[in-house]
Amino acid sequence: MKILVINGPNLNMLGIREPDHYGRETYADLVAKIQTHCDAKGVEVSFCQSNHEGDLVDEIQGAYGTADGIVINPGAYTHTSVAILDAVKSVGIPTVEVHISKVEEREDFRQVSYVRLACVKTITGHGTDGYLEAIDYLVEGR
Ligand code: DQA
Repeated sequence: MKILVINGPNLNMLGIREPDHYGRETYADLVAKIQTHCDAKGVEVSFCQSNHEGDLVDEIQGAYGTADGIVINPGAYTHTSVAILDAVKSVGIPTVEVHISKVEEREDFRQVSYVRLACVKTITGHGTDGYLEAIDYLVEGR
């Protein structure tokens, strides 16, 4: 099984940005943690992070025919991007939406998620463990 983990804008700043919301783990820590988890499960995983909406669309399109599942944290584009929603719909790959913070308890503008409309599951507020839960869901259906 092949899974692509996509992170959107400012997630490269993990460990530095707003630690009260996002914790102290860095993006490199996150990648290492997911890699270890996937190795233990025999899952092939690849990663991308971009601060640019079109690059995220390109990555989703590039997963067509190569990935069996996508884990995506689109960052702030969650709340604005119809293009990312359409890309996930276009490829038809089972996709889990992850947010490190508990978005439902934050500002009103964070209550909207476009990508959620194309996702098989959403995980919020579990810190970086949410990515591991997303992988387990794609691999084991729970
Ligand atoms: C986030 C929540 C978004 O509202 C925010 O813009 C992010 C991170 C999260 O992981 O909790 O960049 O997606």
